This record gives sequence, C-alpha cells and structure tokens, in this order.
Amino acid sequence: MKGKFITFEGSEGCGKSTQSKLLYEYLKRKVKRVVYVREPGGTKVSEKIRRILLDPKNTINPLCETLLYMAARAETVSQLVKPAILKGYIVICDRFLDSTVVYQGFGLGVDIGFIYNIARSITAGIKPDLTILLDLPVAKGLRHRRFIKDRIEKRSLSYHQRVRKGYLRLARQEPERIKVIKVKQDKYKTQKEIKLVVDRFLEKYR
Ligand code: TMP
Repeated sequence: MKGKFITFEGSEGCGKSTQSKLLYEYLKRKVKRVVYVREPGGTKVSEKIRRILLDPKNTINPLCETLLYMAARAETVSQLVKPAILKGYIVICDRFLDSTVVYQGFGLGVDIGFIYNIARSITAGIKPDLTILLDLPVAKGLRHRRFIKDRIEKRSLSYHQRVRKGYLRLARQEPERIKVIKVKQDKYKTQKEIKLVVDRFLEKYR
C-alpha cells in the first residue's frame, strides 16, 4: 500500500495526543509500517521552536508566530513526514496545517490566503489524506488542561471558541477529508469511533 498521511486536530484538552498515540499502537499491530509525529516538533530544531512558541514568558507577534509554526513544519515535513510517506509508511501527525489556519488565521486574524501561500512551499505537496477532528465544547477542554498553562492555552475563552468554530468550518468545507468525532467521556469509546473511521479509510486502498 502507498504511504498515507493521517492527521489529528482539535482544540485544547480534546484528548488528541492520547487518541493519536492509541491509533499509532493500533495501526502498528495491524499494518506495522507506521510513523508517529507531533507538530510543532519531531526534529531537534522544531522541538526548539516549539519551546519558544509555548513559553508563556514570550510575547510573539502573530505574523512571527505563524512563521515559526511554518518553520517548524518545514523541518518536520522535509525530515520526517515526506520521506516516510515516500517509503510507503502511514504517517500519523498530531496537528498539521489546519492548526495554523484555525489558531493563527481564525484565532488571531492572520490572513488565511497568506497562510496557504507559504504552506504551498513548506508542505512540498504533502496534504493529509484523512484528518480526525476531535470536537468538544471549549470550556470542557480547557478544564482538562494542566494547572500551569502554556502561551497558547492561556488565551481567552473567546479565542479558543474561534479556534473551535474555525475547525468546524473547515470540516464543512472538506467533509471527505475531515471527519468530526465528538469526544466521549470514556476515551475507549472515542477510540472505537476513530478506529472505525480509519479502518473504513484504509479499506479503500486494499
Ligand atoms: P499541542 O498542545 O497539541 O501539542 O500543540 C501545541 C500548541 O500549539 C497548541 O496550543 C496548538 C498550537 N498550534 C498553533 O497555534 N498553530 C499551529 O500551527 C500548531 C501546529 C499548533
């Protein structure tokens, strides 16, 4: 089977990291050739950029913030995502370009056309084949967060609401790629739904 690119998206505290790792374990047993990456991160430099971006002591201008997320992505795509897809692996990525569109575009008002323009060079033709969007009310998600919040988590409730609405808007625009899954109280119930969606998606390529 040709490589596939599956991304996870969602607002704060939606359980995305837990669910993406559970899917990785599941697919590793099932198809073996699977790689797990998180964004921003995955390479030495993009993990450093991540620390700058999330440090609550930093004040960063929205355009600089956008470009730093994109810079981290340029590293992750060229070093990990693209080579793995070309080798036929399934790549599971915890966040990708949709995050920039909603967090910096819908959330901070950065021009979305500008985001897609730079993304064209940075993503090198790589686009998610399937995106799992985990959805839950913003207040609920923020309650799940740690006591010490990072620079993005600290933003206002209305910011996080714009992020959630942005995601749901993208899902309406691209229903074939973006599958919305309502987060359940029981993480295994959520996982079951994700597995169904992913199994159905992979079935198409057998
Ligand atoms: P994480 O908490 O899911 O690991 O993601 C790190 C934070 O960075 C999270 O608050 C979302 C934010 N983020 C953006 O604002 N724009 C982006 O492009 C990405 C990838 C993440």
